[in-house]
Parts: sequence; C-alpha cells; structure tokens
Amino acid sequence: MTAELSPIDIAKFVAAKRAVDYVEDGMRLGLGSGSTAAWMVRCLGELVRDQGIKVTGVATSTRTAELARQVGVPISTLDEVKWLDLTIDGADEYDPNLNLIKGGGGALLHEKIVATASDQMVVIADVTKQVETLGAFPLPVEVIPFGWQTSKALIEEMLGNLDVLGNTASLRLDHDKPFRTDEGNFILDLHLRHIPNAQQLSLVLNQVPGVVENGLFLDICDVVVIGNADGSVETRDINNGTVEREQIDIVDTDNLFVDVSE
Ligand code: A5P
Repeated sequence: MTAELSPIDIAKFVAAKRAVDYVEDGMRLGLGSGSTAAWMVRCLGELVRDQGIKVTGVATSTRTAELARQVGVPISTLDEVKWLDLTIDGADEYDPNLNLIKGGGGALLHEKIVATASDQMVVIADVTKQVETLGAFPLPVEVIPFGWQTSKALIEEMLGNLDVLGNTASLRLDHDKPFRTDEGNFILDLHLRHIPNAQQLSLVLNQVPGVVENGLFLDICDVVVIGNADGSVETRDINNGTVEREQIDIVDTDNLFVDVSE
C-alpha cells in the first residue's frame, strides 16, 4: 500500500496515525473534514475495529459523517453529545502560535463550532501548511446567499482600512455555480496575502451583515502534529511548550481501505 501512496499522502497519513494516539476509550470526538482528516477517520475506524475502543464521533461535514459510518465509527450530533473531549482536524495554514486558517474544504462553520466545543483540538497537517504569518492561503468567509454581493462589497471596503496586503474577495464556485456549504451558504475567499492582526480581522469580519463565520481559528488549537513524507512526525504542544519527534511505522495499511468507497 505505501508504494501506492504519494509523498504528500504519506505525510498526511503519519500525522493522522500519530494523532489518534490522543484518543482514549469512551471519548466523544470531533471529526474534522478534508483529506488529512479523512486519514484520521480511517485510522480511528481501525482502532475501533481492531482494539474494540468505544468512541462517539461528531462529524464536521456530511462527507466525514459518511466516511465514519463506512469505517465503523459511531456518529452522533453535537446537540446530543453537547461537549467533546477532543477534536482532530486538518488546517490550511498554521502559524507558530498554532493560529489557523481553515475552510479550504468549505466546512469552516461546523469545524469552528465543533472545535470550540472541545476540551482539546489537535491539528494534523503536512509541513506545507506551516507559515510565519497567516494569509497566503485565501481566507474563507461563510456568508448567507441573500445579499451576498453587498456583504462582499462591505468586506472589501473594510479590508481597505485594515493592515492586510490584499483587499479582494471572490465567490467560491463549484463548476459554474456558487459552492454551497452544508448549511446552504456561500463562501467568499479573501485574498489577503499577509494577516498581521488576525484577532482584529476576525472581529471586524464577523460584524459585517451576512457574514456567518470566518476561517480564522485563533487560540483554539492546542497541538499540531506535522507529518513528513519520510514517515517522521513532529508533535508541538502549545500549552506544554513541548516538541516531540518520532518515526511512524508505516506498515501495510490495506485494511484502512476495506469497504471504503472514495
Ligand atoms: C475543511 O473545510 C478545511 O478546514 C480542512 O481542514 C482544510 O482545508 C485542510 O484540508 P486538507 O487536509 O485536505 O488539506
């Protein structure tokens, strides 16, 4: 199996594999979205199947919920579970303080609610997601469809008065139609290039009428697990100030794909 994995998939897989070490029997888990989180869900399915660990998952997207069911991870709702022990999710960017940009897959609203309702958030990523200052990745902002062009114009005007390098927003498309989130909303991607004051930007964005939430995850993430293509991982814990490096044994992972339709 490893021979078929690309270097980036190996990096994502080893990060995911290391991150599920945080999972304990009986935990209520937030399950992130995206390609790295999908590896984590598969690794979790393996834990449930092979070690009999019991967990309750709350998925951040319909896609993740579907995958979790396929690999045997029980799924509930946040309203049912109310509070979570741990969320494991991917990110589009992380900075040295473990502030994040998320939402590249369009699931930022559910991801932020779930991460905020968790005792701990562990982010899994490959090293390409690491930045000194957030902003190279376009910042996703979820807006309601009604009057979205007005929301966009207000955001662009507001950006002109802030300390960012770009001030344009583009409507995310799915082929020739607006991309729809699981809530039926639209996503505006803000091309900012450099976000020196993410706290201020986040506060200001969420005051624009029509904006539901933005993709800045500030002071939410506790740990980042960074995977590399050589199978090594680095785990940084922002609360303990620790950095651990280890090598993940990439054994035959065929069983991670049993009965999983991509
Ligand atoms: C989903 O909306 C995002 O927040 C993802 O967590 C993020 O885009 C990372 O995705 P990948 O793991 O696919 O890079």
